[in-house]
Amino acid sequence: MAELKNDRFLRALMREPVDVTPVWMMRQAGRYLPEYRATRAQAGDFLSLCKNRELACEVTIQPLERFDLDAAILFSDILTIPDAMDLGLYFEQGEGPRFKKIIRTEKDVADLKVPDAATDLDYVMNAVTEIRGALNGRVPLIGFSGSPWTLATYMVEGGSSKDFRHIKQMMFATPDVLHVLLDKLAQSVTDYLNEQIRCGAQAVQIFDTWGGVLSREMYQAFSLDYMRKIISGLIREHDGRKVPVIMFTKNGGQWLEVMADAGADALGVDWTTDLGDARRRVGERVALQGNMDPSVLYAPAARIREEVANLLEKFGTGNGHVFNLGHGIHQFADPEHAKVFVDAVHELSAKYHAG
Ligand code: CP3
Repeated sequence: MAELKNDRFLRALMREPVDVTPVWMMRQAGRYLPEYRATRAQAGDFLSLCKNRELACEVTIQPLERFDLDAAILFSDILTIPDAMDLGLYFEQGEGPRFKKIIRTEKDVADLKVPDAATDLDYVMNAVTEIRGALNGRVPLIGFSGSPWTLATYMVEGGSSKDFRHIKQMMFATPDVLHVLLDKLAQSVTDYLNEQIRCGAQAVQIFDTWGGVLSREMYQAFSLDYMRKIISGLIREHDGRKVPVIMFTKNGGQWLEVMADAGADALGVDWTTDLGDARRRVGERVALQGNMDPSVLYAPAARIREEVANLLEKFGTGNGHVFNLGHGIHQFADPEHAKVFVDAVHELSAKYHAG
């Protein structure tokens, strides 16, 4: 494998010194880029794009050609696991993800198989291998998965949801059934992330997009405990280097203290949490990743730079910050504004790392 030319992202995750604050953007490969839309049209649809190793590699690299990013993220989706459980994932135009088979009963859960990551999800592993080759050490590659709770919401609701009616009913009425489902998902996610690491993912992120819709007790029992279990089963060193783990619970800001003890190296935070407060609360236990509101990218360049400066000042000096948006970049964001954001992070952060 090629020597890593830019390791500031991995160093910041391990709270080691860096020259400038590393930056990447959640959903950096996606619809806001015209070149992404062109490649997706060539593939036919989104899932075909994920399953084509050359094209998945191409869209992974696209944002790196435009912006001075410090990490690449595998182009795929969190719903590959339920798809590999034979639930029949498809995307309805404008409606988001859908499943042909919805999980509602004890029998539905009992019948679910834990996918074999190397064979059932071979297309993801092929993409990881292909991307590592194409990156040739330029920046590290991030692998990812959804959290068990987040994956379960899609499987039980049958798609995206606003009120989480069915999964919350399961959680309160038949919690044992939900625990069996989450256990199978935790096993699947552990195997899936470990296989990504074996194929070349140099850091991994767990997307807990919907953990934040729970109460503190329910979050701990139905989301955090399963992420902790996954993290304890992950390969933490590969090819002579630490493989950092980032845990991102959207809207999880009020629980940072307990999240910091789950075994992750870094916590992703969204913009509803003050970065300075977050740092004081987690102390030296974990690095932080975030947390500019993606909507700031709708503002003019000067306002974007001002917000980057504001967040850098909140984090202050010292190690352990990876700059990012607080959630995925919007499909209507202007790529030129994304460039202003990325360049501002490098330019304005140097003074916090001097010495
Ligand atoms: O960050 C990256 O660039 C890597 C790629 C990535 C995608 N999805 C590509 C994608 C990642 C990391 C995801 C994760 C994901 N997928 C999450 C967690 C996201 C988070 O930030 O919390 C979720 C909830 C999903 C499930 C999913 N996939 C949804 C809700 C959608 C949107 C559907 C829609 O039509 O708006 C998708 C589709 C999807 N995943 C797209 C991309 C680029 C858009 C598909 C397209 O090209 O039309």
